[in-house]
Amino acid sequence: MYPFQERNEYFQELFDKKDLAVMGRNTNHFPNAPEIKEAMISAIMAEEYHNYAPPCGIRELQELILKDLQAPGCYALITNGATEALYQVTRVLLHEGDDLVSTDPSYFITHNFAKHSGAKVVEIPIYSDQNQYKLTPELLENHITPKTKVIYLVDPNNPLGSCLTEEEIVRICDVAKKAGAFFVQDCTYKDFADSHFPAVRYYPEGAIAIYSLSKSCGLAGMRIGAIVSHPSVIDQLTRAQMNNLGSSLVAQRGATAALKTKEKWFKAVFDLERRHQSVLREMFGQLHGFFPVVYPSQTNFLTIDVSGSGFHPEFLSIKLLEKNIQVRHGGYNSRLYGNRFFRVGSTVPREWIDRFCTEFPRIIKENRPTPYEPAKKLF
Ligand SMILES: Cc1ncc(COP(=O)(O)O)c(C=O)c1O
Repeated sequence: MYPFQERNEYFQELFDKKDLAVMGRNTNHFPNAPEIKEAMISAIMAEEYHNYAPPCGIRELQELILKDLQAPGCYALITNGATEALYQVTRVLLHEGDDLVSTDPSYFITHNFAKHSGAKVVEIPIYSDQNQYKLTPELLENHITPKTKVIYLVDPNNPLGSCLTEEEIVRICDVAKKAGAFFVQDCTYKDFADSHFPAVRYYPEGAIAIYSLSKSCGLAGMRIGAIVSHPSVIDQLTRAQMNNLGSSLVAQRGATAALKTKEKWFKAVFDLERRHQSVLREMFGQLHGFFPVVYPSQTNFLTIDVSGSGFHPEFLSIKLLEKNIQVRHGGYNSRLYGNRFFRVGSTVPREWIDRFCTEFPRIIKENRPTPYEPAKKLF
């Protein structure tokens, strides 16, 4: 079997599991507001999908995204999820001889895209409470060279749950400007932060927001997101546009309804997510050697440091899967610190949270920390 087949088999097996508690993909499993489902059903019933959408997206959705980011002078290019947005940006902007400056931990799918464009990826270590588990402007400055073409930051951060302040964003924009680099701010988790500061407001000519409807709006399987930047940047990005025939019309209708009605339903999502984080934290607090790296996490998951427990996070994730609970161990997001943490999703049914809180202490009680050799692959 080729690696791509193995990878698909792995996810197919998870997909087929009955009653799996999906707590490892940062997806949102809370029920959607009826307006969102009705909009998608109406699009199907009207058979809108016989047609292609406009190549850069339906205007109403573009405008709602710009309003959501408060980035009026920008343009929103609709994509099949943030993933396609990241692919389009990295493949167009990066070439042999360029550097993409990012962090470890990070979202490695983007690093992989950058490498396939011929760029070198510089991963700045940020797993430390000395820098509050985030990339400070000072740390960034030390790694800027004439080759730096793109600075990529996941903010709020996957996997750490940290989020940059307005002052930090402004200073990072200044560093990027001075270096003549693009600042790609992946704000997939922005709605779960207490406050979030889109860099496109401060550095319109060189900041790029990567926007997703997968997490806060619960539309991961619909595949809908956007690239938001100055029209001159979008012009560069669309000269060879992967999604030339537009994104799913059904997904765009659902996304439009979600953004139009978000004020009505999102606060309840936010509050319930935070309540789940506190239930999880309380359970971990009763065990020896576990702590949330950032609390409250500014994302829809909690990341737990296990280094004081002696257990390897991958070992714990395997044991949890035996109990039909999927979490993500650190090896997916970090080369340097993969043996220190795992992530557990919190926008999930309370029943899954309770299952996790019952099974996890049992696993710790029934097993002993032993040396563990992690698998080679990064899933
Ligand atoms: C940082 C980050 N960016 C992008 C994505 C992908 O989002 P989408 O579902 O919109 O493709 C994820 C998904 O987990 C993510 O964590």
